Amino acid sequence: MKLNIALLAGDGIGPEVIAQAVKVCDAIAVKYKHEINWTSALTGACAIDDCGEPYPDSTHEVCLAADAVLFGAIGHPKYDNDPKAKVRPEQGLLKMRQKLGLFANVRPTFTFPSLIDNSPLKRERIEGTDLIILRELTGGIYFGERGRKDDGNTAFDTCTYTRAEIQRLAKLGFELAMTRSKRLCCVDKANVLESSRLWRETVQDMEKDYPEVTVAYEFVDAVAMRLVQWPNSYDVLITENLFGDILTDEASVISGSMGLMPSASKGLHTSLYEPIHGSYPQAAGKDIANPLATVLSAAMMLEDAFGLQAEADAIREVVNKSLADGIVTEDLSGKNKAYGTNAVGDWLAKNI
Ligand code: IPM
Ligand code: MN
Repeated sequence: MKLNIALLAGDGIGPEVIAQAVKVCDAIAVKYKHEINWTSALTGACAIDDCGEPYPDSTHEVCLAADAVLFGAIGHPKYDNDPKAKVRPEQGLLKMRQKLGLFANVRPTFTFPSLIDNSPLKRERIEGTDLIILRELTGGIYFGERGRKDDGNTAFDTCTYTRAEIQRLAKLGFELAMTRSKRLCCVDKANVLESSRLWRETVQDMEKDYPEVTVAYEFVDAVAMRLVQWPNSYDVLITENLFGDILTDEASVISGSMGLMPSASKGLHTSLYEPIHGSYPQAAGKDIANPLATVLSAAMMLEDAFGLQAEADAIREVVNKSLADGIVTEDLSGKNKAYGTNAVGDWLAKNI
């Protein structure tokens, strides 16, 4: 098969972790006789440095022309403490989501048996955890009207959702639940917010189309609590943009390392695959970042965007082997020897 993949390495540790995913995919291509055509493009702080724009039109063209996008991370500390900065790397991510129509963000949380004791939670609470949060990604407060009143002392951000936006996300949630345990949790704040009441009403109306799926409706504050109490009680969760942002960060630490969780963003055009972790600028260039989340995102991409199940499984298998054999970066090595980012990537590619 010919695979045309756009490669957006981004900032911070992005280029280093992306380079390992490329090595692994190239090894897969040799083994399974595929031809991968990688096209690199800039996004984030590196794109601002290059042309003043965090998601340039030229990058958008590359993404639209590709079959899938593999993305690293964006962000740079020089923007973090400057609330007045006019252009920021994160705007590139939001623009990319909007222009590519990436309305559904799929963020799984699962445990690796060999890493259970790395989790901040007790073993008996997390064993068997395997949940997916489907976060709406192009609506809500992230994209609503915002501003300041004339006196400069009052600010507002609005959360707006249409029934159609809720339906298209919920549809993916119901379909995903059908392939799993047929349990769906709709997360909202319908006791307070009108937009949440529309979410609940819309999802309730859709229940009749999926009679086999059992839907639970829970408030976001209660979910935040239960996620750390009994994460293994959840399966598929659907929620709006900001709640999803917060809950997916919370969920990402359950497994014991944020450096392990992949994600996908799907929608109207090309789908995008990226690690859940950010640009981790303190580690950039030090050859210490964990590349596994990006490598697993590449596996998700092969499975999802190209239907290459055996290839995706081969990547997951070699990742499991590296964890079991202790070929891991310093975030996972404990008292044992830590391998560099590149060494882990080389080992994975060799063992494919
Ligand atoms: C994420 C990030 C982004 C978000 C930021 C960088 C804009 O936190 O992908 O979860 O809030 O969506
Ligand atoms: Mn986030």
